[in-house]
Amino acid sequence: MVDVRLVPLRDAHVPDVLAVMADPDVLRFTRTPHVVTEDWVRGWVARFDGRDRLAWAVVDPHDTFLGYAVTGPVDHEGGEVELGYAVAPSARRRGVATAALLAMARWAFEEAALQRVTALVSTGNPASSAVARRAGFTLEGVLRSVHHRDDERVDLECWSLLPHELAAT
Ligand SMILES: CC(C)(COP(=O)(O)OP(=O)(O)OC[C@H]1O[C@@H](n2cnc3c(N)ncnc32)[C@H](O)[C@@H]1OP(=O)(O)O)[C@@H](O)C(=O)NCCC(=O)NCCS
Repeated sequence: MVDVRLVPLRDAHVPDVLAVMADPDVLRFTRTPHVVTEDWVRGWVARFDGRDRLAWAVVDPHDTFLGYAVTGPVDHEGGEVELGYAVAPSARRRGVATAALLAMARWAFEEAALQRVTALVSTGNPASSAVARRAGFTLEGVLRSVHHRDDERVDLECWSLLPHELAAT
C-alpha cells in the first residue's frame, strides 16, 4: 500500500486545496462551487472544527500534499459519518485515495468509536466507486435525485463499511 498520512487540514494547505479544486472532476463530483477562490477555500477549511466535522491533508512521507480527506457532520450519538476525498491529478492511480479512505475509517472506528461510515459516490464516477470497493466498502444501493448544489440533483451510490469489515481489509 502507498505510504500516506493524514494530517489536520490547516490554513497553510489552502493553495494546495485550491489547486486540486480547480480540477474538472473535483468540480463535477464534489459539492465544491463552480467558481472557487482562495477566500472561499480559507472559509471552507475554517469550518472543520475537529470534532463535529474533520478534514485532513493527505501527504506523502516528505509531507508533499497529495489531496484532502473530509467528513460530513459527525453523528456522535448515532455513531455514523460520511467520508469524502479528492486527490491531485498528478498523484492519481497510485492508491492514494484508497489509503486515505482506509485511514479515515480507522480514525472513525478506532478513535471516534463510530459504528458505520459511508461514502456517497455519484453514479458515473467509476474511479471513486473503485476506491470504495477497493477499501472494502459494500454498495448498498443508489440514492435518487439527491441535492448536490444550487439547483443540481444527482443519483448517488451509497457505500458503507462497518468496524469488523475494516479489520478484514
Ligand atoms: C476518485 C479519486 C479520488 C481516485 O483517487 P486515486 O488516488 O486515483 O484512487 P486510487 O489510486 O486509490 O484507485 C483506487 C481504484 O480506483 C481505480 N481507479 C482510479 N482512477 C480510475 C479511473 N479514472 N477510472 C477507473 N478506475 C479508476 C484504480 O484502478 C483502483 O482500482 P484497483 O485497485 O482495482 O486497480 C480521484 O480520481 C479524484 O480526486 N477524483 C475527483 C474527485 C472525486 O471524484 N472525489 C470523490 C467524490 S465521492
